Amino acid sequence: MKALYICDEKEEWNHIRNLFASHFPKVELICVTDGSDAIEYLSYEGPFGLILVEAAMKSDDPSELTRKVISLAGERPIIFVGAQAFITDRIDEEFYIKSDTNDLLIRPIEIESFKDTVKKAIGWAEEEEFEKSIEEIDREELLPMKLRNFYLFESLPYDVYLELTQTKFIKIISANKRYSHSDINAYAKKNVKVLYLQKNEYLKFLEDGIEKLLMIFDGQVKLSTKKIIANQIRSVLIIHQYVQTVGVSQNLIKLCDRVIAVTREVTLEHKKFKNILPFFPKAHADLAEQAVMTLYLSETILTALGWASETSRKKLGLASLLYDSMLTNDDLSKIRSLEDPQLQMFTVSEQEEFKNHPLKAAEMAQYFQGYPDTDFIIAQQHERPKGDGFPSKLTNNKLTAHSCAFILSNNFVTRLVTDNKNQGALLNIFREIKSVYNQGNFKDPLSALQRSIV
Ligand SMILES: [Fe+2]
Repeated sequence: MKALYICDEKEEWNHIRNLFASHFPKVELICVTDGSDAIEYLSYEGPFGLILVEAAMKSDDPSELTRKVISLAGERPIIFVGAQAFITDRIDEEFYIKSDTNDLLIRPIEIESFKDTVKKAIGWAEEEEFEKSIEEIDREELLPMKLRNFYLFESLPYDVYLELTQTKFIKIISANKRYSHSDINAYAKKNVKVLYLQKNEYLKFLEDGIEKLLMIFDGQVKLSTKKIIANQIRSVLIIHQYVQTVGVSQNLIKLCDRVIAVTREVTLEHKKFKNILPFFPKAHADLAEQAVMTLYLSETILTALGWASETSRKKLGLASLLYDSMLTNDDLSKIRSLEDPQLQMFTVSEQEEFKNHPLKAAEMAQYFQGYPDTDFIIAQQHERPKGDGFPSKLTNNKLTAHSCAFILSNNFVTRLVTDNKNQGALLNIFREIKSVYNQGNFKDPLSALQRSIV
């Protein structure tokens, strides 16, 4: 088990370390100097069974910090260490008087009370751990859910499992118990891509996710650009999983409407794609993020062209949300043509999936009422001006202006996430794209794209 000690006096570290080493040698103690280090460790090095907070710390307000720690790591024992005066002055009573899990360790520390306090905390953490039992489950009864979707909630009304072997699963989230986003982060770091839900609860999860996102978009609180984009990315994750496994529902269409509508507000505020790009998260650049980038680039291209009518925006908007929705392996989105040598690195069924994904996604788009012609645009996402694209090998004069704008924006984004997202890269990518697409119906959207990135 790991414990975290937050204290800006390094001399105290040794004292606490020695106490743990003599009485709880199995606990791995990590010491950090301030709140931002603590948050970093909690996010990436967790899970921590217990946390010790020094009441006399100068770097942070210990009560504020405790609030942040709980919201990040979820409920777990916190031990406040310090002289009685510091505890009284600086630690809000709610954290220890009303709490069953938290405790105090008054300086000078008496060995016996140290042992009792830590033992109680470890007991609590172990009991939680005990919940994580290994179970033999027929995998036919479970369905995989992308890990990132679990950032949407803090607790769920059903159990969630992690795959250990073909038949063995470990329950890592118990129904109706708070789970921490830092634990989800820790799984992501271990390269876990999906968690498993019982089949009958899978649809419920997706529908709850849609409801939650609708509430966020329709809420009274005005969201910052960064939060809007984060929620758009979360929405696309859910939209993709929903169309892949369930299909299309009224609420799903509603969510797509909201995600597209809010794009307009952000675009009007920041104008150019290059001004919107810095609001995207740095780490992932997965399919969902690429979709939202494509959404914004399409919207800025339409605006620059003076074509931003409701219908045009809805067409390219839905195309952005759905174009790669039928790809189950994110890495396939980086492939741009059937001739790409990288395509051979995928399994035969994945290669097949890549070949068919434009038409499969186009078929899905037909179920969305109020989005005319979006299916054509999606079907044409990988066509190229000289007719060497796929699946229909259409040439430039067979592609509508809307398709051309979409192809450009999607191509640009795919290159952007494979290269670096810096300002220099934008112009280089533009030049690359111009050398291929500067003809026919591509010409006008191409110059609009240029205006959006310089
Ligand atoms: Fe694609």
